[in-house]
Amino acid sequence: MEEKVKSSLFSAVQPSGAVTIGNYIGAIRNFVKLQDEYNCIYAVADLHAITVRQEPAVLRRNTLELMALFLACGIDPKKCVLFVQSHVPAHCELAWVLNTISYPGELSRMTQFKDKSAKHAENVNMGLMDYPVLMAADILLYQAALVPVGADQKQHLELTRDLAIRFNNRYGQTFTVPDGYILKDSGARIMSLADPSKKMSKSDDNPNAFVTMGDDRDSILRKFKRAVTDSDSEIRYDPENKPGVSNLLTIYHAFTGKSLADSEREFAGKGYGEFKEAVGEAVADALAPIQAEKARLLADKAYINSIISEGDNAAFRMARKTLSKVYRKIGFYSGE
Ligand code: TRP
Repeated sequence: MEEKVKSSLFSAVQPSGAVTIGNYIGAIRNFVKLQDEYNCIYAVADLHAITVRQEPAVLRRNTLELMALFLACGIDPKKCVLFVQSHVPAHCELAWVLNTISYPGELSRMTQFKDKSAKHAENVNMGLMDYPVLMAADILLYQAALVPVGADQKQHLELTRDLAIRFNNRYGQTFTVPDGYILKDSGARIMSLADPSKKMSKSDDNPNAFVTMGDDRDSILRKFKRAVTDSDSEIRYDPENKPGVSNLLTIYHAFTGKSLADSEREFAGKGYGEFKEAVGEAVADALAPIQAEKARLLADKAYINSIISEGDNAAFRMARKTLSKVYRKIGFYSGE
């Protein structure tokens, strides 16, 4: 019997604070769906997080919390490799090598670098500019064929492909050139509740614009109650003309599994108040078991630590294999 070899898939999330329902629907929930189909490798990207200033104690706590959240959302450490990026030194080591084939021009052109430099003008550091090279190292170390990325990371994935091809051309076939994994349910892009023309973001100045995975029921209901809609009263999916209502329908669909058409029918003739309450309830109901499981896990730090350590070891071995190959190709003396 022939066994189909699964492709490898890599992704990571930064432990830089609260995780919104947008991050959950757009990333973490898909990580769970992908784990049966691919060899999935998921990291908590703490090396990336320090490119903007972090409070040490908070970063440490956020790393543990993100790990607990991954597990609570259903990422199964028996099926995936789940680890902490800074625990695997090969990420920095490969990033250094890739730096020598990356050009300041291409890095300073990156949209995210420009945005973040403007936002953190007091701390435009080399790491901020080098961020996409480290990301390329993350992906290439695991010979990942696929990387699920949202629109904001597409340019970085493109650079990863360029670096892989550049290295392969210079030194011979070494890296798998990764493709972006476009999620089937690409309609599930969650926008701000206060301004549906913007993506939902935890760094929004208005706390009512986003819902986090840790928000309690009352806050969730309150935030949805305040969500921006429009001056007409029809509950219809029409992102162009009714962005607020459409965003709420998308969220309702994402959290209940009901189709947009069915949801429109369900709310036909009903008022915005009732609709917003139903969306809030659906989100709160879906988050409750995840929050409970996360709290249970956090009470057992030894268990989480054991999962991290297993993941670190597996990642270490995989990464080492690629790094050794790279070191050989570029001519580092190994005693042979
Ligand atoms: N930069 C990504 C983000 O902020 C996180 C990340 C780090 C990542 N390394 C990665 C995503 C490798 C995909 C692949 O969302």
